[in-house]
Amino acid sequence: MSRARAAVILAAGQGTRMKSDLPKVLHQVGGRPMLDWAIASARGLGAERVIVVTGVHSPQVREHAAKLVGEGAVATQDPPLGTAHAVRAAEQALAGFDGDVVVLYADAPLVKSESLAAMFALREAKGGMAVLGFTAPNPFGYGRLITDSEGRLQRIVEEKDATPEERAITLCNSGVLCADAKALFQLLSMVKNENAKGEYYLTDVVGLGRSAGFFTHIVEGEEAEVLGVNSRVELAEAEAAFQRRRRRAAMESGVTMIDPNSVFFSHDTEIANDVVIEPNVYFGAGVKIGKGARIKAFCHIEGADIGEGAQIGPSARLRPGTKLGAQVKIGNFVEIKNSTFGPKAQASHLTYVGDADVGARANLGCGAITCNYDGFDKYRTTIGEGAFIGSDTALVAPVTIGKGAYTGTGSVITKDVPDGALGVGRARQVNIDGWADKNRAKKQKAKDVK
Ligand code: UD1
Ligand code: MG
Repeated sequence: MSRARAAVILAAGQGTRMKSDLPKVLHQVGGRPMLDWAIASARGLGAERVIVVTGVHSPQVREHAAKLVGEGAVATQDPPLGTAHAVRAAEQALAGFDGDVVVLYADAPLVKSESLAAMFALREAKGGMAVLGFTAPNPFGYGRLITDSEGRLQRIVEEKDATPEERAITLCNSGVLCADAKALFQLLSMVKNENAKGEYYLTDVVGLGRSAGFFTHIVEGEEAEVLGVNSRVELAEAEAAFQRRRRRAAMESGVTMIDPNSVFFSHDTEIANDVVIEPNVYFGAGVKIGKGARIKAFCHIEGADIGEGAQIGPSARLRPGTKLGAQVKIGNFVEIKNSTFGPKAQASHLTYVGDADVGARANLGCGAITCNYDGFDKYRTTIGEGAFIGSDTALVAPVTIGKGAYTGTGSVITKDVPDGALGVGRARQVNIDGWADKNRAKKQKAKDVK
């Protein structure tokens, strides 16, 4: 990278069509707010300064952005007078910056890093500016890229200002633009609002640049990556586009999915090769899966680190703070939260493990549960290596089961069990001979009398 890079992210829109108390750019795609996607793209490009332009109507966006980019990198546009006006609002925050700047939209989370890199590369090689364009079969609503006979970009015209001939053009503007920062702000100062919307259009810098001898190069992307979100319907479309991309990437990196369309990823899901994912699996944020593991059907997994060769599900729920070693086996209707399992430990059926450390090769029987919460505080359970927890054991934390120890089926374990011992905590069984026969005869007689 030869020149310093910066990004200006426009997030001043109101997003009224979302009909939400949550500002639009904080709605999530792939489990991450759209604004965070734009910031991540900028950082991925090596942008040393990332400025977020917010509106006065949403202090929540300002606060959120400040946490990610710092208070000084959040600019305010008041009132919103158009995209050129919005970029100008970032000028002060970018004071002293010498290099290239890219303008991104906080409501377009799926712009590919390859496309952005291509824009910077073109600019670096040829000078001038670069825009991200795309061909839309139905271009209605988008700005159109007007090229000359040699295919060079002359200007961008907005839908509302376009002639019928210009409207027939299908090469559209995504809004993403990259330029030398100083040149861009100079051009922006010349933008006027004499157009159908009475707004200051960022897109006007292209024509103004051309008059000043600047060329703007076009990088062509796909419509799916520039998709802007204005409504819940478009949010779902963006989510679907993200999931398609993520599923493809997983398969290309060696993950088998029997029905990819029923597997849902998060922006940060990490899966090693030779993992098999059965149908209907949901990954929330923070999941990492080791090589060769199998995630069986109907699992809900978030904040979990799953070891190599582990087998999970069907119908298991792994919650944040779960860390499973190699070849762990977790079966159906098992819930695990904030707990570690050593290699080859297993819980095969109907178990709740919360705030526990389970040693290697330990086995939790059907229906075993940790009682980790007394309504006020949470307590830990420790299960030693190779321990065997009998079915339907209630482990009342804090409690420790020693290495290789057993607990009797149906026990309520309130005291530590030493290494190698058996802990039994249940009432002894008593058999009363003949009781059932006598009882039945008595009840039958009473019924006959009636
Ligand atoms: C813009 C482009 C258009 C392009 C389209 C792609 C301009 C003039 N037009 O049109 O060529 O095809 O995007 O979707 O740029 N914003 C602010 N402050 C403002 C106005 C807008 O922050 O004063 C933000 C919005 O929140 C949004 C983005 O800038 O994230 C784009 O604004 P929008 O009004 O949606 O522009 P379009 O008319 O869609
Ligand atoms: Mg728009």
